[in-house]
Amino acid sequence: MCYDCSSSSGPSDPSRRSFARFLAAGAGLTVLTACTPEAPRAAAPSSSPSSASPSPAAVTASATPTAEAATVPPAPSEPAPPPSPSPSAALPRQFSLTDPASPWLIVNKHRPLVPAAYAPADLVRPAVAMTVSGESALLNSTTAGAAEAMFAAAARDGVSMVLASGYRSYSTQVATYNGYVAARGQADADTASARPGYSEHQTGWAFDIADGGGVCGFQPCFADQPAAVWAKANGHRFGFVVRYPWMFHPITGYYYEPWHLRYIGVEPATDMVNRGIFTLEEYFGVGPAPGYL
Ligand code: DAL
Ligand code: ZN
Repeated sequence: MCYDCSSSSGPSDPSRRSFARFLAAGAGLTVLTACTPEAPRAAAPSSSPSSASPSPAAVTASATPTAEAATVPPAPSEPAPPPSPSPSAALPRQFSLTDPASPWLIVNKHRPLVPAAYAPADLVRPAVAMTVSGESALLNSTTAGAAEAMFAAAARDGVSMVLASGYRSYSTQVATYNGYVAARGQADADTASARPGYSEHQTGWAFDIADGGGVCGFQPCFADQPAAVWAKANGHRFGFVVRYPWMFHPITGYYYEPWHLRYIGVEPATDMVNRGIFTLEEYFGVGPAPGYL
């Protein structure tokens, strides 16, 4: 299994290429299957996100809580990133990074949902092809509208895309996470499944896609399937980012999930593409979250 880190979705600046080489040489490049609400697959390689932190991208200031960036300082041995204005400051509107109802919410291993049992008030079923039912077929209303537009655009381009997992309540995430722990142990589970109260799926801002044919569903090889390739190249036009990109697990805390799309809005998603920034942590300057505090 090999993913080209020099591709359009991979790190592009020299420091990131160096970091990628470091990981390739010493940390292993196993990509775990993840994110599926189904029973976790057994026998996944055990490898926790590296504790090494790459140099953050040239994004240091947060759009809203600038002080939040200081809560996760870089390791003492790392050079301080160069000061630079937050790219999000140039955007016409600003949103909270902590409100679960905000499209700019950043939830990760350092930033639990508050309240932990948050549930969106505007869950709806998008009019898209899907392989799920019940709560998993739901998204918040903004994300649902954007998903409908994106799926339709993919179809116009001849790409089959289906919704494979949408909203997950806190209680569903309990069951999902516990399934991973039972199958893999907690350390490995934490590289693939968020703990209850820490998942984007609980906000309605994120969902997983598949290709409708079951090819490589929730597996690393999905990255090479047309649905994933198309979403990676075009998702920003509809406000989506691939939330857990290849090689950024020391920042995001999770291995590559080419199926997991997160809505943040067209302007910031496009801004990230234009600036070559791949994680919300870097873009909004909140610091890496490789593991739970
Ligand atoms: N697989 C992602 C991290 C989740 O469980 O939300
Ligand atoms: Zn997901």
